[in-house]
Formats: sequence, C-alpha cells, structure tokens
Amino acid sequence: MKIYIKTTEACNLKCKHCYIGDNRRFKQQFDADKTIAWLKAYTQKYGIKEESLYISFHGGEPFWGDLKEMQKVCDAFPTATFDATSNLAMNIDHGIKDFILQNFQQDGIGPFIKTSWDYGIRFSTETQEAAWKRNVKSLVEAGATVKVITCLTKPFLENVTPAEYLGLMKSLGVKHTSFERLTSNTTEDKSLIPPIEQVDKWLLELYEVNDYLENSFFSDIATACKHNFIGCRKRECMSSVLTINANGTIGGCPNSSIKNWFFNLDGYKNTERRKELIQKESMRNPGCYACELYQECNGDCHQLEWVDGKCYVPKKLFQRIKDDVAACRCRAEENWL
Ligand SMILES: C[S@@+](CC[C@H](N)C(=O)[O-])C[C@H]1O[C@@H](n2cnc3c(N)ncnc32)[C@H](O)[C@@H]1O
Ligand code: SF4
Ligand code: SF4
Repeated sequence: MKIYIKTTEACNLKCKHCYIGDNRRFKQQFDADKTIAWLKAYTQKYGIKEESLYISFHGGEPFWGDLKEMQKVCDAFPTATFDATSNLAMNIDHGIKDFILQNFQQDGIGPFIKTSWDYGIRFSTETQEAAWKRNVKSLVEAGATVKVITCLTKPFLENVTPAEYLGLMKSLGVKHTSFERLTSNTTEDKSLIPPIEQVDKWLLELYEVNDYLENSFFSDIATACKHNFIGCRKRECMSSVLTINANGTIGGCPNSSIKNWFFNLDGYKNTERRKELIQKESMRNPGCYACELYQECNGDCHQLEWVDGKCYVPKKLFQRIKDDVAACRCRAEENWL
C-alpha cells in the first residue's frame, strides 16, 4: 500500500505551478508519534503487512521537515520501503544525504530518491539551480538512483528541446526520469499549461531520439498497452493510496489531499466522503467509451481535466507506443522504476 507523509506544507522554493499554493505559508510540521500510532493501528485493523508498505515523504518540501521526526517513522517500520520527492535545493551535506542513503534502500536497487526539475518556474536564482545539480551528482556518485520528474509546462516545451533534455540528464548521470502533466484544476497560472498537441509533439520527438533514458511516462503507457494498469491510470488512488497531511488530516491522492480529506489522526472518519471520492474517481468522461484507446488508456488519471471537450492524453505518442508494443519493439516496456 502506498502512503504519502507530508512532513510539512512549507517549502524553500516558490514554484509558479505548485498546487500547494498559499498553503506553503503554513509552517506546521507533522507529528511523527501520532502518525506512527495511526499507521500501526490502521495496518493492523486491515491486515496490511508492514513489508507491503511503500512510504513516501512528501510536502511542501519534505526535507523542510524535521529529519529526526522522519527518522522515527523509518525506525518504526523497519521492513517497509521508503523514499521521498524533494526539490534537493538545499545543503544536503549535514544529515540529509546520509538520511537518504541509509533509509531509502530498495531491494535490488540501493538508495532511491525522486527529485523535480522544472525549467524556468522553479529556481529563482542560479545558486539554487547549481545546488540542485550538485546534490543530484553527489547522490549519484554515492551510489543512489535519482529519478528526475519534470512538469510538461509551456516554458519547458518551448525552450528545451528533447535533445537538450537528454543531454542535461546524461550530464548529471541521471538515467531514470518521468513527466507530469499540469492539472488544470490546481494550477493557478493557466498560461503555463500547453495545448495537448504541443505536449504530444515534444514527447513523440523525445521517444524517437531517446537512446538512453528509462522514462516511466513512456513505460506506463507501454505497460497499459498490455492491459496492466499501474499508478493513477488504475483510478484507485482514493481507495488504495493514503496521504497524511502535515496538519493530521488524511486524504487519498496527494495532489488534492488538503481539500479532499476523509480521516484524521485524531480519530475523525468520514467514510461517506471517501465513498463519494472513490465513486467520482471511478467515473470516466463519457467521451472515453467511444475512444479507440479506451482499452489501453482506461480513461487516464482522473485529476487531468478535459479542456475544450478534449482529454489531456498525448494520443499520437500513445498510438505509437501501442504499435511498438504490438510489434515487440518497444524499449520502454523494460523500465522497472
Ligand atoms: C508538490 S511537489 C512536493 C515535493 C517537492 N517539493 C518537489 O517539488 O519535488 C511534488 C511534485 O508535484 C509537482 N507539481 C506541483 N504543482 C503541480 C501541478 N499544478 N500539476 C502537476 N504537478 C505539479 C511538482 O513539480 C513535483 O514534481
Ligand atoms: S519545490 Fe515542490 S512544494 Fe516547493 S514550491 Fe516547488 S513544487 Fe511546490
Ligand atoms: S485517450 Fe482520452 S478519450 Fe481516450 S480513453 Fe484516454 S482519456 Fe479517454
């Protein structure tokens, strides 16, 4: 079971697209003892084995939270798997790096961490970006697998070619990457959201020139083309994912857990609200049922709103991967992260 623990909603950066928005001003830190007690009780009640827990520290910026409190959680669930998604734009040499290397060990992989890189909308100074690059390289050199996530924004697609993106990842020693599409319901500045045709063209070009990266945006589509749905495509985030917010409320998908919460660490349960959210997630747009990709796409992530009567799926890329999977020539199938 996937559990996100938001150590805080606060952050050291002010990315223009961030769905946390004004909540980044809240300095509240998570309560490790209460979180541990709640998770122990929850997993016991539902017979969930500790070793099946995948706990991901999130935020805000997870490392803007208290490292000692985070360590308590790792120690309380020694057989669970841990990782984090961090902006890695701070000094990691006084504890954070060692914490990552020690606690984020994954079977057959070694230490693993996700970080984001968003062109033009993330770092306000060159020093911040330089710190990020230095940290990524230093973790890679220390034997960690660093996965870089990039949002498909207009500034990114217009200013970074697929070849340049590949070159940057190679120069950092990063082999694993992924992309996020901006969710229009949570992105305040709509001018950052590119038309889906622009996204499709850029991704298809990268897919064609890629001779190096394992990219999970591509491999998710390849896996779906074999009718095996993973992650958001499964449309079960509201029932199979829990996000524990820093203030103790608990929701499903981390992108909307502040607004859409149904439990809390103090014992509040709103199973009706949870049922409503599960029901909403299971409903596809009626347009999906007539779509030639429906069997493979499954209606995509429910957070991605349709714009002007169109879904936000790069259909040309999808069809290309579908054809390649059918012809057994799709490299993207082999990605495991
Ligand atoms: C909210 S951040 C939290 C972790 C950490 N601070 C970071 O930036 O990696 C998690 C991820 O959500 C992405 N994100 C933020 N706002 C988004 C939005 N409006 N739509 C889609 N993804 C978004 C970020 O770029 C980042 O990859
Ligand atoms: S680093 Fe992450 S949490 Fe912080 S503003 Fe950027 S996207 Fe939001
Ligand atoms: S490609 Fe678009 S229309 Fe087709 S099933 Fe997916 S989300 Fe629905």
